[in-house]
Amino acid sequence: MKDTTGATIYLKDYTPPAYLVDDVHLTFALAPEATRVRSTIRFRPNPEAAGRDFFLHGEELTLISASIDGTPVTPEVTPEGLTCAVPDAPFTWESEVEIAPARNTALEGLYMSNGMYCTQCEAEGFRKITYYPDRPDVMATFTVRVESDLPVMLSNGNPGDSGPGFAEWHDPWPKPAYLFALVAGELVNHPDRFTTASGKEVELNIWVRPGDEDKCAFGMDALKRSMKWDEDVYGREYDLDIFNIVAVDDFNMGAMENKGLNVFNSSCVLASPETSTDMNFERIEAIIAHEYFHNWTGNRITCRDWFQLCLKEGLTVFRDSQFTADMRSEPVKRITDVIALRARQFREDNGPLAHPVRPESFQEINNFYTATVYEKGAEVIGMLKRLVGDEGYATALDLYFERHDGQACTIEDWLKVFEDSTGRDLTQFKRWYSQAGTPRLKVDESYADGTLTLTFTQETPPTPGQPDKLAQVIPVAVGLLGPNGDEVQPTTLLEVTEAEQSFTFTGLAAKPVPSILRGFSAPVILQRETDNAERAFLLANDTDAFNKWEAGRALARDVLLRMLNEGTRPDPAFLGALSSALADDSLDPAFRALVLALPSEDDLAQAQVDAGRVPDPQAIHEARQRMFDAMADTLHDQLAEAYEVYQVPGDYTPGAQHTAARALTNVALSLLSRRDGGKLAQAQYDSADNMTQQLSALSSLLIAGAGDAALAAFEQQWKHDRLVMDKWFSLQITHAKPAEVAEVTDRLTQHPDFSMKNPNRFRAVFGALAMTPAGFHHASGAGYRLMADWLIQLDALNPQTTARMCSAFETWRRYDADRQQMITDELRRIAARPGLSRDTGEMVGRILG
Ligand code: PHE
Ligand code: ZN
Repeated sequence: MKDTTGATIYLKDYTPPAYLVDDVHLTFALAPEATRVRSTIRFRPNPEAAGRDFFLHGEELTLISASIDGTPVTPEVTPEGLTCAVPDAPFTWESEVEIAPARNTALEGLYMSNGMYCTQCEAEGFRKITYYPDRPDVMATFTVRVESDLPVMLSNGNPGDSGPGFAEWHDPWPKPAYLFALVAGELVNHPDRFTTASGKEVELNIWVRPGDEDKCAFGMDALKRSMKWDEDVYGREYDLDIFNIVAVDDFNMGAMENKGLNVFNSSCVLASPETSTDMNFERIEAIIAHEYFHNWTGNRITCRDWFQLCLKEGLTVFRDSQFTADMRSEPVKRITDVIALRARQFREDNGPLAHPVRPESFQEINNFYTATVYEKGAEVIGMLKRLVGDEGYATALDLYFERHDGQACTIEDWLKVFEDSTGRDLTQFKRWYSQAGTPRLKVDESYADGTLTLTFTQETPPTPGQPDKLAQVIPVAVGLLGPNGDEVQPTTLLEVTEAEQSFTFTGLAAKPVPSILRGFSAPVILQRETDNAERAFLLANDTDAFNKWEAGRALARDVLLRMLNEGTRPDPAFLGALSSALADDSLDPAFRALVLALPSEDDLAQAQVDAGRVPDPQAIHEARQRMFDAMADTLHDQLAEAYEVYQVPGDYTPGAQHTAARALTNVALSLLSRRDGGKLAQAQYDSADNMTQQLSALSSLLIAGAGDAALAAFEQQWKHDRLVMDKWFSLQITHAKPAEVAEVTDRLTQHPDFSMKNPNRFRAVFGALAMTPAGFHHASGAGYRLMADWLIQLDALNPQTTARMCSAFETWRRYDADRQQMITDELRRIAARPGLSRDTGEMVGRILG
């Protein structure tokens, strides 16, 4: 039985484990319906523990036998685990349990995916494999024996003996159970080698299903670049003889950093020019790096408890962003990170699911793998780095690895390292970890006699459980531009620490235009009285690429809001500013593509709320369409020229330069297709030899209303490829007319290739529905109803993915009374389901508030 009790767990209640583990031996006799797991675990009392109660987690296990030091025992078993009388001295625990991986649809613990066995143990999945103290502060070495007649059997660490029917693995590095992994199946590998800085030879493999061998080369290259980068930039070498990556089709998340055996959602590792878009390549590179970087930030140094999740995730996201910035374009990476931060984390922070980067309580930890923990967690580290400087950061990280290697740590440990190595007091800075909500940073300017005064006022709105907020440390990077566009004050860092605080710049020859929060130096909402002439000036002249883009974005938002609220037509001055940016050949084409992309419908809905209005999803959709049409008309000749000039000749390569050029030509194509009936897009579709070109052509054909033939052809061509078909499912929903979105979604669920059991496919369909606001929030309520119907069905199979997708409803308070009523009715319908999972129950409860 599932635990649906909904008990809340608090950070303040942390106590050290009563018993520690020296080592673990596991034997798996694999069988789909009845796998036997035998464990031998050496326990010893923890001198630092307060009590001596012996408790082992265990869920959905059938206990066959148990013994202590060879003497059979009969533990007391509950749905959550077992207790047993044990000696107050070191002892050896042995047990045998039976589990049924073939019946595991939650994809947590040991499960099967296309005939292959695999595991997912983070956060609390190991307890579905055997009885164990399943908490990250219990670290042990693992020796594993896998028995089956499958050709490939993998686990963590280095390979030991193997022969017909068995394989043994030994992981010499003590680790928490959440990093355990086992994979077995008919797999083929893409092998390679890496020599570490100190000359150690490492065997590398990417394991895939037969047929996917040709999709491994890029991931392997990304892995080797990651290994080298972590040596060069962080001085971190790999520490085992072998590093294995496995691609799995059914996976709840992106990938998992199990020690020496990373398991990937196949969508996050398999890549080929024919089947993957530029965005896929970039994402795969980032995720390979992310999981690899966890080897030090997560595995060698892990988390004391799950409240400290940001210790490994915030830092590792920060590290993978640095890697991508180094491999590709730093400004483009920053801009796209901020777009995603605002779309997901600001949205979360502004609604009922807001929580601190380090939460203080949870019912189900799986619900806290959030944009706040990951992306805001990374922003907090970026701020810390700005405050202590690059050198201070490098010294602190060296001390972190030296002091805490092999330990399970807390945010206090992390901050202490920075305090000890830089001498800085981080007491106030720590509020970034404990206060939820996005600070609003208001700035007022006054200028007189060559002196500019900037006055900042900060305020963080109340969030669930946190009515009052204290002032935070906000690093604000500022530069000043003279009236002719020259930079008169290069970027300087202001530290705002008070609720209200002023800074002055003296000796100025004329009133400057300030460029504030350069590089998005803090995850705040900047509020500044300005006008569109100044925004256009900054878009044209700012030397900081982020703020240059930001100015264009603010301009677009303002113009769109005026179209919505005042009935104005697309602003010619805005179109002129876009035209100048598009014409500026000194700008990275990827940057220009970003300037041409309007704020999303969801951004505009939030902007309406910020302006004190109730967003109308349909009106927002139409205003955006009108603006795109105006861009297509006004910029036509320039777009047509850019489409020609930036075509990438020759064979496809996924590098930054070609990706940038394709980004620009494909934005141009999407606009041109509004006016040519899809002629150009059809030509591109017919000649495309890679997925980036093929998919953007298909998307442009759908924009032109001429996509039916291509959709059918695409399905014929790709029906054998699950990952490509996910794109086919999504695209039809995101491009449907708002009134038809729910209907199209419903129809696609009846397609023979739709399956609830595959999270990628479910997300391709229902993630697309959630990301199509005018359709999802259509006044009929059909979008809400359909989403709720399917979340209810999915919950019975896969609580984790269901719960994550409930965030589709997190913005309900933005909308009008009718929509609020419809959404809360659906949420209550979900909540009322008998047997609803703890995961989904918690999410729905929090969203309803
Ligand atoms: N720890 C994984 C990562 O960030 C994410 C993950 C969490 C995967 C939980 C599976 C389950 O790389
Ligand atoms: Zn991670």
